[in-house]
Amino acid sequence: MDSSNVSLADFLNIPSVDIMGRAQKFYQFATDLKSVGPKQFKRVALEGSGPVRKVVDSYTGEIREMIYLSSNDYLNLTRHPKVVKAGMEALQKYGTGAGSVPLLGGTLDIHVELEKRVARFLRCEDAIIFPSGFASNVGALMALMQEEDVVITDMLVHASVIDGCKNTNIKYFKHNDVKYLENVLKRVKGRYRTKLIVVDGVYSMDGDIAPLNKIIEIAKYYGAYVMLDEAHATGVIGKNGRGTPEHFNMEGKVDIISGTFSKSLGGEGGFIASNKELVELLNFYSRTYMFSAAITPQAAASTIAAIDVVENEPEHRKKLWENIRYFRKGLQSLKFYLGHSEAAIFPIIIGDELRVGEMCRKLHERNIYVNPVLYPAVPKKLSRIRISMMSSLSKEHLDCTLNSLEDVGRDLGIIGHRRKFIKIS
Ligand SMILES: Cc1ncc(COP(=O)(O)O)c(C=O)c1O
Repeated sequence: MDSSNVSLADFLNIPSVDIMGRAQKFYQFATDLKSVGPKQFKRVALEGSGPVRKVVDSYTGEIREMIYLSSNDYLNLTRHPKVVKAGMEALQKYGTGAGSVPLLGGTLDIHVELEKRVARFLRCEDAIIFPSGFASNVGALMALMQEEDVVITDMLVHASVIDGCKNTNIKYFKHNDVKYLENVLKRVKGRYRTKLIVVDGVYSMDGDIAPLNKIIEIAKYYGAYVMLDEAHATGVIGKNGRGTPEHFNMEGKVDIISGTFSKSLGGEGGFIASNKELVELLNFYSRTYMFSAAITPQAAASTIAAIDVVENEPEHRKKLWENIRYFRKGLQSLKFYLGHSEAAIFPIIIGDELRVGEMCRKLHERNIYVNPVLYPAVPKKLSRIRISMMSSLSKEHLDCTLNSLEDVGRDLGIIGHRRKFIKIS
């Protein structure tokens, strides 16, 4: 197989080939690819989150110290002493696991405390904790939305939203295009029982922010509800880190907020925050909640401490934003194409998958850890390098990264020739 002409998209579904046959074909492709090309997926780090980490070089097996621009631990709370201490105390007090699903013996006082803490932080009536952000979206949407209903969602919304819509109708609107959304709302008028608009606060592969104020206004006019996924916004966006509703002065106006503890809150697990009635419904109808063990006591305790830090130590967010502004300026002066990125995520959009791989490899050789993002995570012609910012990265780290990006970008002819590679219709 010539792996240079084949991509992940070709293995999504192979007509008349069963699962084992498909797995064999993909295995051959992945093995070929690793022998000749990029080995950037699943690189193994030998230490936890931080601006520089020891990483096993997937090409040579040696250990590299790399500037790490691939973590969503935006505020570095995974290492914050208060967050670590709270987790260790919970481990000692409760042991390692919750032991059961929440409704049947797995609920600890610390889970209830976390639910209340999330609700209070986001100015909602109540909240429910899920095993992950993915499970929150899938569980809530599958519980709420049925055959008679419709989800109207941004075309770049997270995969978990799309997976949660298997039992309902789904319509897409052009990314962040409110006029387009309005046209969809006009088209579906009178045809469905519930209309639910679902958007991400910050888009995970683009780093841009949903125009939430306009979306809420239009939803109100057309009698639709709004669900907002705050995975990349919590802790980062808004004066006090309370996310996109705070940023737009719209707190209390979003019907359903989903999110994760795995990014700026530094742990794992996810949540839905809403009014008390809807949360109660999810307690008994969300399958990803009911049939999955409650999150570990350590994760719950660390997350409570992380929310405390977000609320009481604004210096981490301040430093993060200094880094974001500094790095964006640097990338812009190099004339990389960044789309409309505004938050802690920087897409360097290149378009050509092979070039993305080459660029990542060259950066890897210079000890810069960034990720290639290819189809199906993004459309093929918008293949990119994704960089995420952290508050603990220093100016020296950022300058070193910018210098490497400049050198590698020039080597590959990406800087100054970007139009040749990116074709955006
Ligand atoms: C927008 C968005 N929603 C949800 C999730 C899922 O979160 P988790 O990793 O907690 O499952 C992610 C994770 O990448 C995400 O980017």
